[in-house]
Amino acid sequence: MKKPNPLLPRVATIVDIIRETHDVKTFRVVFDDLDEMTSWRHQPGQVAMLSVFGVGEATFCLSSSPTNRDWLEFSIRKAGKVTSALHELPAGAKVGVRGPYGNSFPYEAMRGKDLLVIGGGIGLAPLRPLVNFMLATENRKDYGKVEVLYGGRTYGDLCYKEEVFRIWPETPNVTVWTTIDNAEEGWEGHVGFVPSYVSEVKPDPANKFVVICGPPIMIKFTVKALTELGFKEDMIYTTLEMRMKCCIGKCGRCNVGAKFVCRDGPVFSLPELNALPPEY
Ligand SMILES: Cc1cc2nc3c(=O)[nH]c(=O)nc-3n(C[C@H](O)[C@H](O)[C@H](O)COP(=O)(O)OP(=O)(O)OC[C@H]3O[C@@H](n4cnc5c(N)ncnc54)[C@H](O)[C@@H]3O)c2cc1C
Ligand code: FES
Repeated sequence: MKKPNPLLPRVATIVDIIRETHDVKTFRVVFDDLDEMTSWRHQPGQVAMLSVFGVGEATFCLSSSPTNRDWLEFSIRKAGKVTSALHELPAGAKVGVRGPYGNSFPYEAMRGKDLLVIGGGIGLAPLRPLVNFMLATENRKDYGKVEVLYGGRTYGDLCYKEEVFRIWPETPNVTVWTTIDNAEEGWEGHVGFVPSYVSEVKPDPANKFVVICGPPIMIKFTVKALTELGFKEDMIYTTLEMRMKCCIGKCGRCNVGAKFVCRDGPVFSLPELNALPPEY
């Protein structure tokens, strides 16, 4: 059988658009060819290239759970040419999707363990599929407790509010902590930066993987807080955002030292990251 061209986008339709924040929308897309939809498989942490015809394409993480086979979701912050064009599209518009690319969070090694997910702003997007994968009925028995610590600049900057404030906290064996940077009217929750909230909450490091995604400064100080609490470096993972073009390890656009982020990443453990040259 002829192998499909990994660089060829497949046509999909935007079936729903969910406004998350003032500059982030989640696009729910379905392949026009239903066989493409049923045969699509991705793993938590993987990315895809999304294209706006006539404008260009950019890399986004898949923010929907791999256990959902009915659609794919991408949560996209308006930044430049492609993302601004995407934000202008209405439901019903066509886009191109190619992928999935890259490695995933080590969900096999995480079996039987607890998980702590730490996200900042849109950084929850790559972590959401991992949480929802572990909470899916068919997988729940394979994993332990799930903890989510999520922060944003303001309440308005927090994404996936239905999951963060209702669905996840109401799920057995799930704990959610939320924080915003500065006090604001109507917010009765925690106020302060993510790393200091980690030190306050003092999550137990025993038998627990941690996955962090957010601004680099948040990641840096969160790692410091975690190591002070006794978390081992090889249990800590994050995901890197480097400029990508081909996504299949050919163009050399995304390399950090000898590693191609599109192929060897985007997920790296802390010891793997520490071994890379500081080019990211
Ligand atoms: C592995 C990976 C996963 C990603 N996941 C998401 C996601 O889920 N949601 C989302 O909104 N975005 C995500 N991005 C970022 C997204 O690909 C860029 O913002 C993209 O360049 C936007 O295209 P554009 O044409 O709108 O903006 P551009 O015109 O390309 O850039 C707009 C601005 O963003 C800066 N920028 C562009 N790319 C990056 C980057 N990779 N890192 C830091 N700054 C950058 C540029 O310098 C410029 O200032 C991801 C990127 C990677 C590599
Ligand atoms: S994006 Fe081309 S090699 Fe990674």
